[in-house]
Amino acid sequence: MNLFDTIVKPTSIPEIYRTMKHEELEEKVREIKARLGKKLFIPGHHYQKDEVIQFADATGDSLKLAQYSAENKEAEAIVFCGVHFMAETADILTTNQQTVYLPDMRAGCSMADMADIYQTERAWTELTRLFGDSMIPLTYVNSTAAIKAFVGRYHGATVTSSNAEKMVKWALERHKRLLFLPDQHLGRNTAYNLGIKLEEMAVWDPMTNTLEAQVETDKIKVILWKGHCSVHENFTVENIKQVRADYPEMNIIVHPECRREVVALSDFAGSTNYIIDRIQESKPGSAWAIGTEMNLVNRIINQYPDRHIISLNPHMCPCLTMNRIDLPHLAWSLDQIEQGSSHNIIKVDAEIAKDAKLALQRMLDLA
Ligand code: 13P
Ligand code: SF4
Repeated sequence: MNLFDTIVKPTSIPEIYRTMKHEELEEKVREIKARLGKKLFIPGHHYQKDEVIQFADATGDSLKLAQYSAENKEAEAIVFCGVHFMAETADILTTNQQTVYLPDMRAGCSMADMADIYQTERAWTELTRLFGDSMIPLTYVNSTAAIKAFVGRYHGATVTSSNAEKMVKWALERHKRLLFLPDQHLGRNTAYNLGIKLEEMAVWDPMTNTLEAQVETDKIKVILWKGHCSVHENFTVENIKQVRADYPEMNIIVHPECRREVVALSDFAGSTNYIIDRIQESKPGSAWAIGTEMNLVNRIINQYPDRHIISLNPHMCPCLTMNRIDLPHLAWSLDQIEQGSSHNIIKVDAEIAKDAKLALQRMLDLA
């Protein structure tokens, strides 16, 4: 599935879920949850809409949700309120007796779509010609199960934004250089924080099959895949200058999926959980401009009315694909489960799941 599919495929839920009153849908979800009890588990990513997150049994960033999925052994149905790669991860980490559902199959991730397994294998072949066996692959969890399996087979691991530094360090203790997929910004920001110079990082362009480098190949330590998050790339240096001019006292905090120059000019940068914790620990009266997904920023604004909190980009919108999971889709999905219908099941091929689990487990063992 790619982003184009997620945009053009019509929604398949019956019209009745669209016309039902919000309160009726809420009541339906509440009742089904009560009836299914512990047989049902609903993990929800922090970027989900409020109308959905209110029903999550556990909320978290990508790392937390992967950990919860690995720990939960009693739920028969896991209804994942997040995006496709997260549901795949949950399927890989749960048992064969557990079934993972994604309430709307169009909930993909544009970043994960920027790397496919064919491009990855081709890149590895080309890069091996240049660098021999000196490389280890790391993939952000925001990638397909097939890419996680590739990384697992080549002795690498997955990373999330909350453990990226630890995982890059781990990789560089084992090999001289690493290939980091698919988010160039998280890779660059993380390597930079670990003291690797920007010129020691090259960029692999999967569209042209070329390596963009500033130095001779033997000096390259990190090869960054040319991918990005279309939400976090929308925070710019101009946004920072504007906030500094309008509110000189404001703290600027951003997610490391933002570009290097944006992170460099911010006061703080860290994963979704880091941002949440930092605001929670902040003093009443403090002022914050946040550079991350808008559903989360709006939730934080509502939770802390005694702080002055704004989005770093005043024209920001929520992540389009995260927003595909809405209350009608959640209610429909739960109804289908109660009726015993197989729908929107996320099942990763067993061979792929076996190798992808190696990559995930290496991360979970260290996290
Ligand atoms: P984290 O949950 O790791 O902060 O990642 C953010 C994100 O973009 C998820 O899609
Ligand atoms: Fe993908 Fe970015 Fe949306 Fe996360 S916020 S799901 S990385 S597009």
